[in-house]
Amino acid sequence: MFTQTNLGGSFTLPNTSITLNRMGYGAMQLAGPGVWGPPLDVDAAIAVLREAVVLGVNHIDTSDFYGPHITNQIIRRALHPYPEDLMIVTKVGARRPEDGSWVPAMSRQELTDAVHDNLCHLGLDALDVVNLRMMGMPNGHGTAEGSLAEPLTTLAELKEQGLIRHLGLSNVTPTQLAEAQTITEIVCVQNQYNVAHREDDAFIDDLAQQGIAYVPFFPLGGFTPLQSSTLSTVAASVSATPMQVALAWLLQRSPNILLISGTSSVDHLRENVRAASLQLPPQVVAELNTITASSEP
Ligand SMILES: NC(=O)c1ccc[n+]([C@@H]2O[C@H](COP(=O)([O-])OP(=O)(O)OC[C@H]3O[C@@H](n4cnc5c(N)ncnc54)[C@H](OP(=O)(O)O)[C@@H]3O)[C@@H](O)[C@H]2O)c1
Repeated sequence: MFTQTNLGGSFTLPNTSITLNRMGYGAMQLAGPGVWGPPLDVDAAIAVLREAVVLGVNHIDTSDFYGPHITNQIIRRALHPYPEDLMIVTKVGARRPEDGSWVPAMSRQELTDAVHDNLCHLGLDALDVVNLRMMGMPNGHGTAEGSLAEPLTTLAELKEQGLIRHLGLSNVTPTQLAEAQTITEIVCVQNQYNVAHREDDAFIDDLAQQGIAYVPFFPLGGFTPLQSSTLSTVAASVSATPMQVALAWLLQRSPNILLISGTSSVDHLRENVRAASLQLPPQVVAELNTITASSEP
């Protein structure tokens, strides 16, 4: 059942005065195909960003390695000077060679350059939140253990210098979070998670107890959008689309989950934002909980 739009309620980042609507927007889809180069239609990308803000989104996720640089430049063109309550979260830790691949960029110089590039392309004096993106498994999306002390210390120093306000982590394990918390405060974790990909269930609960935001990337399945007969059947039963149900399930999964679903389409954006007001009854949630990556591709 759809209720009045409320953008999914709000969440305040720990020890900050930053309160975000739980329905945000992820800007990666605004670059060209393969997250490389400019989009086919820059005006359409600008329209998506402006509509997000009109709808009440005040959390936009980006990175200077989308494009590279392109997505941040489009955000600046669309929204600068930024609304006072808009928080732009970026991430560093990778670079894009000419072949379009994603490779780690974790040296002191690379991280420092990445922070300055984000500041320059977004047109900001300080970045609200920077996520240190660990490269993890060879496909780039799975986590892998390993110390993050060296790169995080560099970012903590840039925070001390006032270039970064808050730090988060991306593609990390609970062990890596614990190590990070001995170095600096962490306000959010951004890992892969959705109704069919639930490796982080226990991690999410632990972060909720600590008051730390959990921001799932690929909430709709990312490059291979979610497809599940259960999802489709449930969606029809509540008069919503499968994507709306997938987003509503995330919002109901835990109060510390903040959504950054991505789209290059104003129509999909409106559809997704509307999911913030979709209340799923308990029996529907129970049915959705039976979906797993192994049982339904
Ligand atoms: N930390 C990390 O390592 C990491 C990795 C990946 C992404 N991210 C962030 O997470 C954000 C979200 O991830 P994502 O954009 O890759 O994946 P996503 O939100 O799971 O899905 C995006 C895909 O779903 C489609 N879509 C969106 N809404 C739809 C709708 N209502 N109906 C049908 N299709 C719909 C989009 O196509 P259309 O454009 O046609 O709508 C696009 O192909 C990114 O924008 C990025 O900011 C972070």
